[in-house]
Amino acid sequence: IVDEVQDSSTNLTDDEAVEQFRLHWLGRKQGRLKAISDAWLKSAPADAKKHIGQRFNKLKEEIDRRLESAGNVGISRAQLAAEAIDVTLPGLRRPLGAEHPLIKTMNEIVSVFQAMGYSVGVGPEVETDYYNFESLNFPPNHPARDTQDTLVIANQERKPLRDRLLMRTHTSPVQIRTMERQPPPVQIVIPGKVHRNDAADATHSPIFHQVEGLCVGPKITFSDLKGTLDHAMKAFFGSSVKTRFFPSFFPFTEPSADVQISCIFCGGTGCRKCKHSGWIELLGCGMVDPAVFALVQAKQPGYDPKKVSGFAFGMGVERIAMMKYGISEIGQLYSGDMRFLEQFA
Ligand code: PHE
Repeated sequence: IVDEVQDSSTNLTDDEAVEQFRLHWLGRKQGRLKAISDAWLKSAPADAKKHIGQRFNKLKEEIDRRLESAGNVGISRAQLAAEAIDVTLPGLRRPLGAEHPLIKTMNEIVSVFQAMGYSVGVGPEVETDYYNFESLNFPPNHPARDTQDTLVIANQERKPLRDRLLMRTHTSPVQIRTMERQPPPVQIVIPGKVHRNDAADATHSPIFHQVEGLCVGPKITFSDLKGTLDHAMKAFFGSSVKTRFFPSFFPFTEPSADVQISCIFCGGTGCRKCKHSGWIELLGCGMVDPAVFALVQAKQPGYDPKKVSGFAFGMGVERIAMMKYGISEIGQLYSGDMRFLEQFA
């Protein structure tokens, strides 16, 4: 029968002949192979089954081989040609995603400090009262707590105050978490999301982003703070930007300062953006309060307020992104509107 296969396969030159050959041998109902299987294989006595099976498989292989060399593996040539891929055609380019302007701004701020040797850290958005307030020298019932518009987690009243959970109102708790984990010296920046019970308007959002900074070591001074932030602002906004420092208050820094930069829109001559003052307020900072070190010292003895000093700073990323890109509505940063976002791709 194998000879028969060979004989019947000499003229497989077109699709029609190949299909004829395939039907003759492999046809599901009338095919020779099925007839042979029915007549021989199925009824073979048990001891002959193996032998007959082997020959049957040889036959089947021969048929498959013929079909294959005729270019037919169950698909017609016409179909193959229709499905062929022209590998010389140019590919389809998928549109690439791009960094969101807010994240881009945050990453740029972070890398300015990384270039000065700062490492990068993160911390939890759901914090305890201890890390968000108490460890930062906001005693219970201290009026400075009211300035933070805190969103608290429900059903915490049965816990001691310091263990109660809340949404962190600033990234400063990560200062404490960092120092508790790591002995001095420390140079770290902490980007992250913060939450405040603020009504949303053109420039405020109840969820926004900050970049926190902390530098601690022997003999860190206010001059280091000024030099570092002045350099950072010049690196970020351009070398012609000037900075100035105003007295301010934060419970965890003493002295504290607000930093202003010369207006990046008018260069300091006065315009609508800087309310004609020539200056724009950008961040809060100060020397770490010794009371903060004293609390950390219980867990990391290296933070002896007599042996180390340090500075910290914190800035709002949305404000900076809006200034940098001339965005007037904070909500646009969260809209996910591609027409807006594509401008920054
Ligand atoms: N955490 C302060 C705020 O959110 C900013 C700040 C950080 C001030 C570090 C001083 C030092 O307002």
